[in-house]
Amino acid sequence: MTVATTAAAGFRTETTGTTRWIVADNRDRLNAYTTAMWVELPGLIRAAEQDARIRVIVLTGAGERAFSAGADITEFDKIDPHEQARRNDNNDYSAFGVLAACSKPTIAMIHGICYGGGCELAVCCDFRIAATTAAFCIPPARLGIGYNARWIRPLLQVVSGAVAKDMLFTGRRYDAQAALRIGLVGEVVAPADLRGAAEALAATLAENAPLSILAAKRAIEALSHPDGAVDMAALDALVHACFASQDYAEGRRAFKEKRRPRFEGR
Ligand code: COA
Repeated sequence: MTVATTAAAGFRTETTGTTRWIVADNRDRLNAYTTAMWVELPGLIRAAEQDARIRVIVLTGAGERAFSAGADITEFDKIDPHEQARRNDNNDYSAFGVLAACSKPTIAMIHGICYGGGCELAVCCDFRIAATTAAFCIPPARLGIGYNARWIRPLLQVVSGAVAKDMLFTGRRYDAQAALRIGLVGEVVAPADLRGAAEALAATLAENAPLSILAAKRAIEALSHPDGAVDMAALDALVHACFASQDYAEGRRAFKEKRRPRFEGR
């Protein structure tokens, strides 16, 4: 069953089983994110994180033309550039920071245009599934915008430094096949199959043990910062929580009984 809700500021959300769909809906501007939408998104992600029924979050754009064309450029003239830079630094509260730190697995479901901040949002998700119509581009060098280093980090977890340079220095457009080749997306399917592919991946993730996924997610994140001090004790604690969990006992029981496990995230 799908439960649809209209969220404020250019989003709608849907809940299908254990999946929360967060849909950017600003179709006239190819789902470009207004300031209000950037402010709104962290709360939508946190609400899904806090909802015990939800196992997977899918971020997407309304319609089939665009995941998102990035920040709403029509607003740029209205915001003081220094204020823009200051907001960008506040990563703990930014949509990118909150999405990248989300404790549940996240999927970007990408139709059409996926540019600028839209591409960065996709990069901050754990998985990217694209339709053959998808096109990717990070154009700040063409607009004279400095690309915040905090956002380059998640990009470097997805593509190599050489590819990140190519994307950021040239601002060129990559079609879906090129994006697959450089590892920017994990899967490319026909537009008609996109929703089904996202649902299938969400179902696989939802069947698995949430604490195992969380421990792996935190470890991958921490270990992929070459210069960051790794808090091994915190990562160990997450793994120990898996061993101590009811889900681990359920996993062993289900294996013996030759059935699918039913995980609860405890
Ligand atoms: N902000 C605000 N409006 C945007 C937008 C953005 N980022 N991207 C597209 N739009 C608007 C267009 O202005 C146009 O509005 P209009 O119909 O009132 O003229 C509408 O969305 C459709 O876009 P259009 O350019 O006609 O579509 P297209 O298919 O020819 O081109 C793009 C698509 C994505 C190549 C082109 O819209 C574009 O380059 N957008 C800017 C992307 C960008 O630089 N994003 C990074 C911002 S930092």
